[in-house]
Amino acid sequence: MVRMLILGTGNMAHRHAMEFASTEGCTLTAAVEIMPDRLATFCEMHSIPKGFTDLDEAIAWGEFDAAANVTPDAVHYPTTMKLIEAGVPVFCEKPLAPTYPLAAAMTQAAGEKGVVAMVNLRYRGLPVMQKARQLVEAGELGVIRHVDAAYLQSWLVGSHWGDWQTEERWLWRLSEAHGSKGVLGDVGIHILDFASFVAGQKPVSINCRMKSFLKGEVGQISGYDLDANESFVMSVGFDGGAIGTIHASRWATGYANAQKVAIFGTKGALEIEFESEAQTLRLCAVDDVHTQTWREVECPPVQGTYQSFIEAVRTGETLEPSFLRATELQHVLDLCFESDRTGATLAV
Ligand SMILES: NC(=O)c1ccc[n+]([C@@H]2O[C@H](COP(=O)([O-])OP(=O)(O)OC[C@H]3O[C@@H](n4cnc5c(N)ncnc54)[C@H](O)[C@@H]3O)[C@@H](O)[C@H]2O)c1
Repeated sequence: MVRMLILGTGNMAHRHAMEFASTEGCTLTAAVEIMPDRLATFCEMHSIPKGFTDLDEAIAWGEFDAAANVTPDAVHYPTTMKLIEAGVPVFCEKPLAPTYPLAAAMTQAAGEKGVVAMVNLRYRGLPVMQKARQLVEAGELGVIRHVDAAYLQSWLVGSHWGDWQTEERWLWRLSEAHGSKGVLGDVGIHILDFASFVAGQKPVSINCRMKSFLKGEVGQISGYDLDANESFVMSVGFDGGAIGTIHASRWATGYANAQKVAIFGTKGALEIEFESEAQTLRLCAVDDVHTQTWREVECPPVQGTYQSFIEAVRTGETLEPSFLRATELQHVLDLCFESDRTGATLAV
């Protein structure tokens, strides 16, 4: 039985708790959270026997086999390094760290210590994503020429996820000083992973433009400077010769949490739509390319990232999505900031 510790008990941690609790061969054994009331509520909700307000105390206690790091982005690095140092396998939330050098240091530390180190690029667990990858790999689309990918959210416009002006969980996401890399760091990493994984090609050049719009009267609320990017548009050159656009926004009214990915090749095309857990994959190939006919593709269930992590802990072999993959993506994200600052197209 893999005994899981959950570090950080905010919004996303509930999903981790539900996923791990329902995974065979896994039990929730402890949680760590700096806010005592939140910790107590979380432990009660998920029947977790042990709670700590300090990670060091939990490590000293030591009666767990693996940890899920669900703290804010800027906290991933120091806490994950402590876990790795203690020899604990880590399932860390994305983005792995605010910058590429920190992400690379985490990957190196995990490698040197020989611990399983995976990142929750959870859309890898979508049947549409895995099926689309198989179709591209099998050559159904021919040679990939063009990629068009978008991640669309609207929590700055609609109230469906609460009030960003008063809730701390949204305010830290809007503030660079609180470790946020904006929409690029938050969901850009997901859509970059999604598009390049399905296309089977890695980015080799990028040009990126991003924007933070004025929010509130002076761009500041409750001590949070609201300066992190909220929209970005990236043009990408891929190692297989394809080009593409990848973009994301928190201003995409009408979409709560949607991803749309289209891949166009010399023999066919596919199109994925994902919105709030509903997913479709459509294919236009063979004779259909002459009539622009799209057919929905059936996608068998696949293993989720949480379950892959438990499998990895049991075998001792890191599976994808790994720290290494997240670090490669982080390198691209860092270059996006430089490209936005200088206007240059940069080699990856
Ligand atoms: N993979 C996904 O699809 C997905 C979706 C949502 C969020 N996330 C990621 O999950 C992480 C958490 O996001 P969230 O929405 O739950 O944020 P949140 O602010 O709701 O929760 C973070 C929690 O961590 C706690 N915390 C901060 N420092 C800590 C420390 N040193 N030790 C223990 N607890 C600490 C905070 O008090 C808070 O309760 C982020 O990195 C985010 O990017 C991933």
